[in-house]
Amino acid sequence: MILTRLQIRQLRCLVEAELEPQPGLNVLVGANGAGKSSVVEAIHLLGYGRSFRGRVSDGLVRTGAPHLEVYAEWLDRSGAGHRAGLRHTGSRWEARLDGAPAPSLTELCAQVAVVTFEPGSHDLIAGGAEHRRRYLDWGLFHVEPDFLPQWRRYSRALKQRNVLLKSVPSPSALDPWDRELAEAGERLTRLRADYLDQLEAFVGEQAQAFLSELGRASLEFRPGWKRDDISLADSLLLGRERDLALGYTGSGPHRADWRVDFSGLPGREALSRGQEKLTALACILGQASAFASRTGAWPLVCLDDLASELDLRHQAQVLERVGRSNAQVLLTGTQIPEILRSGDTAFTLFHVEQGRIRAG
Ligand SMILES: Nc1ncnc2c1ncn2[C@@H]1O[C@H](COP(=O)(O)OP(=O)(O)OP(=O)(O)O)[C@@H](O)[C@H]1O
Ligand SMILES: [Mg+2]
Repeated sequence: MILTRLQIRQLRCLVEAELEPQPGLNVLVGANGAGKSSVVEAIHLLGYGRSFRGRVSDGLVRTGAPHLEVYAEWLDRSGAGHRAGLRHTGSRWEARLDGAPAPSLTELCAQVAVVTFEPGSHDLIAGGAEHRRRYLDWGLFHVEPDFLPQWRRYSRALKQRNVLLKSVPSPSALDPWDRELAEAGERLTRLRADYLDQLEAFVGEQAQAFLSELGRASLEFRPGWKRDDISLADSLLLGRERDLALGYTGSGPHRADWRVDFSGLPGREALSRGQEKLTALACILGQASAFASRTGAWPLVCLDDLASELDLRHQAQVLERVGRSNAQVLLTGTQIPEILRSGDTAFTLFHVEQGRIRAG
């Protein structure tokens, strides 16, 4: 997709900001605290229905403002124009898509494909499993039509089973939920395992560029139970007593995880913080290129504060790779990155100042 217009109102320090990004590389510069990450956050909101910096209640809406608004226009891969608006009124989201209310944020997010690399992205490697499940599920959501129904089915059954577990039920009362959970969970797991298999080559290719010294990268999936030994149905049955004692379901796809291993590095502990970031970046760009190979168009690539995250060599590699891909890129920084100053790479410049954006 190509984002052609973005309007942001009352999001953090952005009072009323407007931007007309161009195809290719867009660079947003501004002082610390000027609102650069907030612009990226606004785009991320359209694509994910959530911020990468905590909940809405953590200050997403500008202090004193009744609500925030994000409005966007973009061209899809066939060149057709679309528009969407998102509003948070303090208690809930309201979304509009192409002039009509969207039934839920999901419909909007399905249209807006964005990947974001930002200072918190190293959580994808070093943080909790929920970050990695979210990553996996984002890709599946966009490319696998059966994913969302199975995910919803699984989540509903899990919720019901957990409610029931707390009410000291007769064991047979759990049977129907176990069956539903097992069926949806096995399907969900197959989709995730297959998707991660497909991703491996794409992530490996990026990792080879950024971290060649670590050898070949491979992705290992952990389904959330001992899937090689038993079915999810058996795992739920075996875990019943434990689940009844704890009051929640202890195994299943909601506990799934995956990891990146490098052939030249047997233990993940040995990654430096910088290498964790580069690994996260390889995963994010690898997923974006897998998306492009499947759908025919790159997602919008947001790179927040790249210069403070990566050294010069890696910054140059990233820009060279995304430049070659024809993806639309939004890069932020406190100044124009050194590697762009030679004038060899074309880009469109914007300044973020006092909660506003100026082309320039
Ligand atoms: N709810 C809020 N209402 C008003 N201002 C806010 C709110 N939440 C955060 N801010 C302000 O918004 C600014 C945050 O902007 P942002 O993080 O986007 O800056 P940035 O340009 O990315 O800075 P940096 O270069 O340090 O990463 C800060 O000045 C912060 O104080
Ligand atoms: Mg920032």
